[in-house]
Amino acid sequence: MDTIQVLDKTFVPYLSEEQILDRIKILASEISADYENLNPLFIGILNGSFIFAADLYKHISIPSSISFIKLVSYKGTSSSGTVITAIGLEENINDRHIIIIEDIVDTGKTLSTFLPTLHKQSPASIKICTLLQKPDALQHVLDTHYVGFEIPDKFVVGYGLDYDGMGRNSKNIYQLSTADEY
Ligand code: IMP
Repeated sequence: MDTIQVLDKTFVPYLSEEQILDRIKILASEISADYENLNPLFIGILNGSFIFAADLYKHISIPSSISFIKLVSYKGTSSSGTVITAIGLEENINDRHIIIIEDIVDTGKTLSTFLPTLHKQSPASIKICTLLQKPDALQHVLDTHYVGFEIPDKFVVGYGLDYDGMGRNSKNIYQLSTADEY
């Protein structure tokens, strides 16, 4: 694998497509075993998770469904702080077992802010499946139940993850070159 250039930054190879797919197959079989007979609903968070969600879902072997949402954050009242709402959730999630599919959990702010909104709709359970997690960057209380790879607190692109909207189409995951860190 060679280094890649995305906009003004250089990225070095970090995880190959083969490593990613091998790990995804393991995650998918764990999830399939844990949710047998529960007919879970997978919810992919756009945009970043679309490639991961597709590859993961192809390897899920139990009856289930999948849907995608986009999270939009805006400033609420001063007492509510930042509010994150979902666009596109049409399913009734009452009594459903939900598995959130996320590309990366960084500070944990996005999901920890959004999960209470989802809980209000009384799902049977909610678990998070993230391809990547940066444990050193976590600043919010968030339980991630299925984690593909724990990675250092460095910016990554590829396999659906972007840098300023670009780089999502790289098959492998690349890490920001040390020379480009600031
Ligand atoms: P959090 O709210 O800090 O956990 O951030 C989650 C979101 O930030 C992810 O869904 C990504 O969209 C974005 N993000 C965080 N770290 C990276 C990275 O290294 N590369 C690309 N996007 C990232």
